[in-house]
Amino acid sequence: MRQIEFFDTTLRDGEQSPGVALNVEEKLQIARQLEKLGVDIIEAGFPITSPGDFQAVSLIAEKVRDTKIAGLARAEVQDIERAWEALKKAESPRIHTFIATSPIHMQYKLRKTKEQVLEHTKMAVELAKSKVSDVEFSAEDASRSEVDFLAQVFSLAIKSGATVLNIPDTVGYAVPDEFAEFVKAIMTKTEGIEKVKVSVHCHNDLGLAVANSLAAVKAGIQQIECAVNGLGERAGNAALEELAMALYTRKDQYMAQSRIVTREITKTSRLVSRLSGMSVQHNKSIVGKNAFAHEAGIHQDGVLKERSTYEIISPEMIGLDMNTIVLGKHSGRHALRKSLDDLGIDIGEERFQKLFEDFKVLAEKKKVVTSSDLFSLADVHELEE
Ligand code: KIV
Ligand code: ZN
Repeated sequence: MRQIEFFDTTLRDGEQSPGVALNVEEKLQIARQLEKLGVDIIEAGFPITSPGDFQAVSLIAEKVRDTKIAGLARAEVQDIERAWEALKKAESPRIHTFIATSPIHMQYKLRKTKEQVLEHTKMAVELAKSKVSDVEFSAEDASRSEVDFLAQVFSLAIKSGATVLNIPDTVGYAVPDEFAEFVKAIMTKTEGIEKVKVSVHCHNDLGLAVANSLAAVKAGIQQIECAVNGLGERAGNAALEELAMALYTRKDQYMAQSRIVTREITKTSRLVSRLSGMSVQHNKSIVGKNAFAHEAGIHQDGVLKERSTYEIISPEMIGLDMNTIVLGKHSGRHALRKSLDDLGIDIGEERFQKLFEDFKVLAEKKKVVTSSDLFSLADVHELEE
């Protein structure tokens, strides 16, 4: 089994989600939980961007000791100096520096030639390396860059001391098969690639961030960048919990594993959602409210007989106590009986038949029948008898 390192960027790219602003204490709380979750690297922030970000990276670097801590820096002297200032108390610091390599970004955003981008790459990686032994270099908008130029930039980054090379799909433009081929081509063309780890950082603009990251795992990368609940710029980053559970559930496919402590997933997701104010959509994979809820009668019946009929992951694995049976108009007798038993409502067969009929009438009117509805249905029967 190959080991895939999880680089969590909830506190950096995740915090760039529109509407999200975490204070220093909240960031520290999340970083401590990420450590329990078993991520390999925490990207704690982008120190040059604000005094708050600088303070958060410094505090996390000082207090979170068992996980590598990264700080982001453009390929500029002042950014790298600031990142190092923030990171210097860390047990295992990483400077993460980046510059764009796609024609569109070089022309319109950077207004730099290929030669200038190469010069900045060399300068930035060498400067970062003079501060820390662990330097990650990212080629922003890599997936829309020319393969040969990207390989040239990456080869230079390795010569200058980079330890990790990151291939971002910055605008979420990639599709899985093509992205896997792209990653393979870069790995073949980059000189010295065997000396470094290769990483991907996928955005979710087409809803493909997790699929693209997994395709890159098959192509041979060693690190995935992701965020809890899929937070991040625009449509977000690859969702950490989905990647971790996909690798775990389909290890036969990927022959790769992570160090994620899966039973910490639910707790982490809820903490991030509460502090960021970004609620998780109900049908979100793994951590959505409905991810383990079974509504249709046939499904409920199947799950009650044998959970693996409709569950590929057990809720306990991600730290959820039990699966939730949602009672609605499609629910059958088995599900109703089980819910009554769970609530301690003990009625005989005859009363049960009548209660089931009343339940169906109520379920037609209401989308979800709750525990208190069941109590009142049972009370009504008591009174009628
Ligand atoms: O999406 C991106 O390209 C980034 C880089 C800074 C890694 O977030
Ligand atoms: Zn990003």
